[in-house]
Amino acid sequence: MDNILQVRDLAVDFTTDIGITKALNGVSFDVPRGQVTAIVGESGSGKSVTANCVMRLIQPPGRIVSGSIQFSPSQGSPFDIVSLADKDPRLHELRGGLISMVFQEPMTALSPVYTIGNQVAEAILCHRDVGKAVAWQEATEMLIRVGIEDIERRMFMYPFEFSGGMRQRVVIAMALVCNPEVLICDEPTTALDVTIQAEVLTLIRDLQHELGNSVLFITHDLGVVAQLADYVVVMYQGRVLEIGTVRQVLKTPMHPYTQGLLQAIPGLARAGERLATIESVVGDADITTPYPLVKLADGRQVSLPPQSTPGGQESE
Ligand SMILES: Nc1ncnc2c1ncn2[C@@H]1O[C@H](COP(=O)(O)OP(=O)(O)O)[C@@H](O)[C@H]1O
Ligand SMILES: [Mg+2]
Repeated sequence: MDNILQVRDLAVDFTTDIGITKALNGVSFDVPRGQVTAIVGESGSGKSVTANCVMRLIQPPGRIVSGSIQFSPSQGSPFDIVSLADKDPRLHELRGGLISMVFQEPMTALSPVYTIGNQVAEAILCHRDVGKAVAWQEATEMLIRVGIEDIERRMFMYPFEFSGGMRQRVVIAMALVCNPEVLICDEPTTALDVTIQAEVLTLIRDLQHELGNSVLFITHDLGVVAQLADYVVVMYQGRVLEIGTVRQVLKTPMHPYTQGLLQAIPGLARAGERLATIESVVGDADITTPYPLVKLADGRQVSLPPQSTPGGQESE
């Protein structure tokens, strides 16, 4: 498999007044090139911390304790993002250049005091050796591509004059103008109305098909995973519980936690099945014990307690 990112044994600690929180503990997974990989898990499971590690955005009191993130860009030699020195020029190339990120809240990425046109053009000038006129032109084209209408006028408007959904479209344009090899989306639609959510998801999927970049898509919603992703990584309490293709994981989830997540989605629960909450499925089971990931015959990896070792599972 041609992987653009290989995350191995990643561990992150946060040191706070009440002690050390292990936000990530031995996280390993791959992001295949040109595909959409989703990380799914409930709030607090370590999804954003994982994404921030890839961008090297972990700040004190957080710290990457161990592990590696091998990045293999299409040009140049592969390198480990975790071990780059803070002043390594590759970090600047990485952030917003080779890898860009869309956050949940669009105003995280937008400045309230500059026009939309200026901000998108600036994202280009920051990473590419082109003049202002070219940057402006390309910014215009990308904004049209993400569905901003009445562009001549809107280039000169400010973020507060845009709706939430429009702002997130601008942020997606900003993330894509440098043609990143990896686009990380951290719950990009969670702050939007349901109808707008669907539009933005469709936009991300269409652009990925068109541009062919690798996407790491973070969500707490397996329904979104079903619509969008090729591969899925299920996280819980800072650990990876299950990895597989979306089809495998949604059709035959191996881990009780994944089964719980699936049953909590009304649209995906089978007819007549009682809708279960995550808590009622997982119960008091000690699923945080670091069971090693077991590789199944179909290539999936899953962390299971010994008593529920899979056997006789039907494959695809
Ligand atoms: N700034 C922080 N300070 C202390 N602990 C943090 C901080 N950010 C994250 N954590 C810890 O890391 C865990 C995972 O956080 P996060 O990755 O943001 O979860 P999510 O899956 O919701 O994105 C949290 O439950 C918390 O224990
Ligand atoms: Mg998060």
